[in-house]
Amino acid sequence: RSIKSLATSPSSHILRRGYASEAVPDRKVAVLGAAGGIGQPLALLMKLNPLVSSLALYDIANTPGVAADVGHINTRSEVSGYSGEAELGKALEGADVVIIPAGVPRKPGMTRDDLFNINAGIVKGLCQAIAKYCPHVSIEILLKQVCLYATVKFDGLVKLYLALVNMISNPVNSTVPIAAEVFKKAGTYDPKRLFGVTTLDVVRAKTFYAGKAKVPVAEVNVPVVGGHAGITILPLFSQATPKANLSDAEITALTKRTQDGGTEVVEAKAGKGSATLSMAYAGAIFADACLKGLNGAPDVVECSYVQSTITELPFFASKVLRCFAPLSDVALWYPVRLGKNGVEEVLGLGPLSDYEKEGLEKLKPELQSSIEKGIKFANQ
Ligand code: NAD
Ligand code: LMR
Repeated sequence: RSIKSLATSPSSHILRRGYASEAVPDRKVAVLGAAGGIGQPLALLMKLNPLVSSLALYDIANTPGVAADVGHINTRSEVSGYSGEAELGKALEGADVVIIPAGVPRKPGMTRDDLFNINAGIVKGLCQAIAKYCPHVSIEILLKQVCLYATVKFDGLVKLYLALVNMISNPVNSTVPIAAEVFKKAGTYDPKRLFGVTTLDVVRAKTFYAGKAKVPVAEVNVPVVGGHAGITILPLFSQATPKANLSDAEITALTKRTQDGGTEVVEAKAGKGSATLSMAYAGAIFADACLKGLNGAPDVVECSYVQSTITELPFFASKVLRCFAPLSDVALWYPVRLGKNGVEEVLGLGPLSDYEKEGLEKLKPELQSSIEKGIKFANQ
C-alpha cells in the first residue's frame, strides 16, 4: 500500500493512538533493590513496558552494570543506574511508581517473619527517602493551573501526592504497615497510594487451579485475599472462574499449595534464595496496573494488601478497584480533585464458602500481630 493509504487507513489511526509518544504520558518508575534476584528481571520487564518513559534502577551496589545492560534494549524508556545512598534521592525524584524488592530473601527452614530484623530497617530507610523525595506537585501541572485558572480558587492546588509505592520486600504483612507509619510521620501518608504486592499469590493460584480444573490458564481468575505469609494467604477458589466441579479435598490441596507456594520455591532453590522470576513477572503485572490506573484506564482491578476497612484488620489484601484521574487532565479539567488520585474503592470479599470463612477467622490473629509488629518497629 502507498504511504498515503497507510496514513489514512483506520489501522494506522489505531496504531497512532496506541503508540504515538504524545498519546502516552511520561511516567518514571524507580526500582529499589534493582541489582537483586527480583530486581534484575523486574528491571528487564519494566524496560519492555511501553507505558514507562524513565526507568531508575537503584541498589546499594552493582546497579551501573544492570542499568548499562538493560539500557541497550531498544524500547521507549531511558534507563539510569544509581548506586549507594548518596544517589537514592536522584533515583526517586519525580517517580510516579516506586517498586521495592530490596532486602534479604528466605533460606529453607525460615519463615518470612524471620526476615523482619534485617528487612524492616531497610524498608524504613527507603520509605523515609520516598517521603522526602517523592511527594511532588509537577511544575507543569502548577503552571497549567496558574495560566488557565488564575482567578479561580483551588482547594487541591498545593496538595502533595506521593508516588505509588509497590512493596515487595518481606514480610509484606509487616513492611506495608512500617511504610504507612513512616509516611504518616513525614506527613505524606496517602493510604490510596501504598500497596503490598500480593500478585504472586494470585499468579500461583491461577496456575495451580488451571492445572487441576483442566481449563485454559489464560482464562482463569482467582481472588486471593488476606496477607502474604502462610495461612494469611487466602485464595477464594469458590469464586474462581471458569467454574469447575472440584471436590473439597481438591480445594483444600489447592489452598495449601498456594499458601506454601513461596516455600516450595525456597526449598527447590535449596539455599540460593526465593522466587525471583515469577515474582518479577507478578511485580511487572502489578506495576503495569498502577501505570494504567495513573493514565486513566477505567476499572483497573487487582488484589493488593492495602489499608482496609473490609475486616476489623487495618491492612488486608483484597480486590482493589483503582481509577486514578490522569494528572494532566486533572490540571486541565478537575483541579480541585488533584488529591483524589489513588485507590478508588477496596472491593468487598464477596460470598465465601464455609471453608474460606474458617480460613478467614484463622488468619486474623497472625495478620493482626504482624501488623502490630510493623507499627511498633516504625515508631521505636
Ligand atoms: P536478593 O538478595 O537477590 O536481592 C535483594 C537486593 O536488595 C540486593 O541486590 C541488595 O543489594 C538490595 N538491597 C539490600 N539493601 C538495600 C537497600 N538499603 N537499598 C537498596 N537495595 C538494597 O533478594 P530477592 O530474591 O530479590 O528478594 C528481595 C525481597 O523480596 C526479599 O525480602 C524477598 O523475601 C521478597 N520477596 C517478596 C515476594 C512477594 O510476593 N511479595 C516474592 C518473592 C520475594
Ligand atoms: C514468595 O511468596 O515466593 C515470597 O514471599 C518469597 C518467600 O520467602 O516465600
